[in-house]
Amino acid sequence: MALQSLRGTTDLLPEDVKRWTTVEQTARRLARAYGYEEVRTPLIEDAAVFLRSVGETTDIVQKEMFRFEDRGGQDIVLRPEGTASIVRAYLEHHLHKTHGFVKLFYLGPMFRAERPQAGRFRQFHQYGVEAIGSASPWVDVETIVLCVEILRACGVSDLSVWLSTMGCRDDQHATSATLRKQLEPYKDTLCKECQARFDRNVFRVLDCKNPSCQAIVREHVRPLKPRAGFPPTPFQLCDACAAHFDEVRKGLREANAPFDDTQVFARGLDYYTRTVFEVRAKGLGAQDAVAAGGRYDHLVEEFGGPPTGAVGFAAGIERVLMAAKDVQSPGAPDQHRRGVYLAVLKPDFTGLAFLMAQVLRKSGVTALIDFEGRSLKAQFREADRMQARWIGILGEKEASEKSVTVKDLEQGTQEMVSIEDFLKQMTQEAGAPA
Ligand code: HAM
Repeated sequence: MALQSLRGTTDLLPEDVKRWTTVEQTARRLARAYGYEEVRTPLIEDAAVFLRSVGETTDIVQKEMFRFEDRGGQDIVLRPEGTASIVRAYLEHHLHKTHGFVKLFYLGPMFRAERPQAGRFRQFHQYGVEAIGSASPWVDVETIVLCVEILRACGVSDLSVWLSTMGCRDDQHATSATLRKQLEPYKDTLCKECQARFDRNVFRVLDCKNPSCQAIVREHVRPLKPRAGFPPTPFQLCDACAAHFDEVRKGLREANAPFDDTQVFARGLDYYTRTVFEVRAKGLGAQDAVAAGGRYDHLVEEFGGPPTGAVGFAAGIERVLMAAKDVQSPGAPDQHRRGVYLAVLKPDFTGLAFLMAQVLRKSGVTALIDFEGRSLKAQFREADRMQARWIGILGEKEASEKSVTVKDLEQGTQEMVSIEDFLKQMTQEAGAPA
């Protein structure tokens, strides 16, 4: 039987990688402009990292983690997300002692054993940021603005930012009791999963995708003491959390950032407190969240560190690319021809071509050589396929005169120049902006 990639995983072929690289570079460039520094954490972690952060009753931990025991009996998972690993690394390397406020950027594969469908994969990729060490609502504002700016720069223009607050831990305790009371009469009409969620972790009912559960939530879930003029939220908020949310919304307005605070939703990971947001893009179907994030002011403490405010987001690169698909974005393949194809007319000249290619490559010029003894015509075809800008032809005449015939595929010109001049010219051209 032919071997195939696993369901929910994807091979990225060269054309895909070009688009991916553009998204990765855009995210990296903008994150750097906002003061984030890149970190890389392992793909495998001790299961406890996610049990204690994402939460034992969440869907991710209950049924979506790729989890196994290694030969030494250690409980290991393929990371399902980045935030918990970043906080573990932050504490393990004492960044809380050496830096007051740390801004970390990351990018890489995540793994969730979900049922694959359009936009939902078992290995998917995120870029994300975590700002650890501040409780300022302005950091929430900056995080959301950066999230939107990267998406727009990648060509995702038709988006909406759902914004809400989940209050502090005390607010969440009060709210879960209220939620149970309000949902109890409708418990039997909730979907099977929500009936289980009702006992395990009632907040999960708020983010159920089932339309009839959503209707029950919409009609019957209310905060006991709604605040006048406050956006709809099922959360019972203390004064400090309500004020924080007001500041975030005010800041976003001052920053001219888009947001919609009329949606009732909760995030499906346990570590969130206060601000939460999800960015939805048009045209993605059921899996329309391209990015999501929020505050997690207790996580550092829950991992054994000091009380530390923190906020971040992650975006799914596959979904960013799906949402940016039809837009003329920086993700479009490179239109420019680049580099040199060294066409060798006799195998004897391969060594010389190889040395020339090495000189060019050291200066950052892409250099390709034919090792197959193909006809000149076939080598031209290959140079064209590889989008080379120049072909350097090495035949008897050229070798005897220590020269190269250079064909410029963009300009359609051809001339014979000395090898020395050829190398100089190519190196200079490569340094010139495309
Ligand atoms: P999340 O909502 O689980 O949050 O994931 C963030 C984004 O990753 C989603 O909006 C989506 O674009 C993408 N994503 C998630 N699961 C899949 C999947 N199975 N297939 C394809 N894409 C997927 C987090 O992961 C949090 N760590 C975000 C965060 C950072 N909060 C604070 N800091």
